[in-house]
Amino acid sequence: MKKRVITILKNALKEVGISLTEKQIQERIELPPTLKMGDYSFPCHFIANKINKKPEQLALEISKKIKETPKGDIENIQVIGPYINFFVNRKDFTKNVLTDIIKKKEKFGSTSLGHKQKIIVEFSSPNIAKPFGIGHLRSTIIGNSIGNICSFQGFKIIKMNYLGDWGTQFGKMICGYKNFGKEEKLKKDPIKYLLKIYVKINKNKKYEEESRSYFKKLENGNKECFLLWKKFKELSLKEFKKIYEKLGIIFNVYSGESMYNKEMKSVVKELQQKKLLRKSRGALVVDLKKYNLGFCLIQKTDGTTLYATRDLASAITRHKKYNFSKMIYEVGQEQKLHFQQIFKVLNLMGYSWAKECIHANHGLYLDKDGKKFSTRKGKTIFMEDILNNTISFAKKEISKREEKISKKELEHRALKVALAAIFYGDLKNTRTQNIVFNPKKFTSFEGDTGPYLLYSYARANSILKKCKCKERKILPNKLEKLEFSLIKKLSQFPSSALEAYNNLSPAHIAHYAFELAQDFNEFYDQCHVIDSKEESFRLELVKAFMIVLKNSLNLLGLEPLERM
Ligand code: ARG
Repeated sequence: MKKRVITILKNALKEVGISLTEKQIQERIELPPTLKMGDYSFPCHFIANKINKKPEQLALEISKKIKETPKGDIENIQVIGPYINFFVNRKDFTKNVLTDIIKKKEKFGSTSLGHKQKIIVEFSSPNIAKPFGIGHLRSTIIGNSIGNICSFQGFKIIKMNYLGDWGTQFGKMICGYKNFGKEEKLKKDPIKYLLKIYVKINKNKKYEEESRSYFKKLENGNKECFLLWKKFKELSLKEFKKIYEKLGIIFNVYSGESMYNKEMKSVVKELQQKKLLRKSRGALVVDLKKYNLGFCLIQKTDGTTLYATRDLASAITRHKKYNFSKMIYEVGQEQKLHFQQIFKVLNLMGYSWAKECIHANHGLYLDKDGKKFSTRKGKTIFMEDILNNTISFAKKEISKREEKISKKELEHRALKVALAAIFYGDLKNTRTQNIVFNPKKFTSFEGDTGPYLLYSYARANSILKKCKCKERKILPNKLEKLEFSLIKKLSQFPSSALEAYNNLSPAHIAHYAFELAQDFNEFYDQCHVIDSKEESFRLELVKAFMIVLKNSLNLLGLEPLERM
């Protein structure tokens, strides 16, 4: 329908001597806030200003041209001030939207824009031997959703976890473990125990030199160091995988910083050959001052490599292996400069695909005092604690509503509800914004929350369960206002999904899903479904709502519940 409006506008504009592309028109079309103001609206001030005409005058001229041509399913147009408002034929519109949704089901809203080209979405990427904190939680939730959003546009997605399993901190960890570590304690609760060691070693400057030498040994292949490192890695990964399983998140590839030792040497060589390296106080750097990006450190004075070196090596290796059309790094915005440097160096090395690398950054979770959480100071919130607290809260809420629920079903539902609370609680925020971490907000189950979405879905499902009517009807005898509002909202899902892709913004979907659930609940509060005269039509509408809400939830990484 929107396409139709665009075509009509394009032709009419041409007749008054203005030529705009479909895309330009599409970007200007607005969705009026109330049904009275039409279904689509086109403001004329921006073109009027350019050609020195009064917008009201121009709106009238364009509308006159429109009125002279056939408009198909556009029923009426009206000019109010500088706006041209379009009214669609509601019956046609309803029929088209519902038929489309019910036919396409889980594909409704998807496109083949990506033509199966590959996109690597790298996200989560926690650091081995450190707890999976809430910073990584953000990356995990947002990155997973971005992957789903891209996949919905027809790309082939590779979800990749790039573990922080190499670097100077392992020198510290090995040093700490050798000085005061105990095997039994490590086995019992590996991550928390390693964190203790890490905090302790960081407090004492005495160990700095020794720690550095351990990392050097590790990079040079010392067996004892390697075996300790391997043990830390295996124990941590086991814990991380437990968390991913609970979160319902699957990675196609686990990679890590430790995997590029060989490639790193060739990167250093290549940089040398391409005359990009220079010495600075004994270290090797790429000078990016010209681009206002400072120095990108490649090799330390003692010959050990750095985070940036590993990122260069991994990007080059990945491009060779996957030939990706895009690579998205979902990483906190505190690493902005790092990624700007990496992309610039790749570009200077002559890799044209560097421009297809994107740092989709996110803001931080801040503590209630507005300050950062810091692992080094031991000020961390553990992912497991958040999850467990939210699950037990969900259990209480569910048991209040349904006393006779089996233990297994309670576990299942509580987990899904908790995930909805946590995921949605994060995704509804603009990605790049800092947010204060407030565990109470996570466990609120009303209003603009994930559980509210699940509740709306379950409510719709219970209507379908109760009905015995077999008849199907895609059109009512009379269309109510709230029914039409809901249908219009349903019709907006494809453009929401596309916009979420264009901006790599799950928040677009989160907001859409919330508004959709609100429209559904308003409709259901006012319009009887079961045993009403319009039962067969309203049931189709409920079904369509469930399909679209489920599609939205899936993009966020969530699954609906049949009952709640
Ligand atoms: N492990 C890193 C951290 O926790 C994030 C890794 C981001 N990805 C990358 N390719 N550098 O800070």
